Amino acid sequence: MTQVTDADLIAAAQKAREQAFAPYSHFKVGAALLTASGEVFTGCNIESASYGLTVCAERVAVFKAVSQGARQFVKIAIVADTDQLTPPCGACRQVLWELCGDVPVLLANPQGAVASYQMRELYPHPFDKRYV
Ligand code: THU
Repeated sequence: MTQVTDADLIAAAQKAREQAFAPYSHFKVGAALLTASGEVFTGCNIESASYGLTVCAERVAVFKAVSQGARQFVKIAIVADTDQLTPPCGACRQVLWELCGDVPVLLANPQGAVASYQMRELYPHPFDKRYV
């Protein structure tokens, strides 16, 4: 199996970003989620005229992966065109924590800037199955 590098994962997120459906915000985001078996699931944000129904790129990627049977994740890359790299929103942090755990989160932009965080840094006191 060929190794999926960080650069590959970021490229996949950037490509997914091109599919963003963002006619309201015009803010396009792409995500690419790497599974333990080396598969990559991508997502883009999908907006609704009923704004609150919008789904972020990260959750689209996670839900696609889980719906296709993936359960073990090793890394996610997120690409948006901002100088200050775009982090996942609070709702996505909750979902990423519950389904992916303490994975590295690569943030990148089309100009080539990259930063890496752990999920536990982005979401330090999570609500999860331990409480339910
Ligand atoms: N968005 C994402 O897809 N991911 C993020 O990390 C931040 C926000 C989307 C939601 C909405 O379509 C647009 O960006 C503006 O908030």
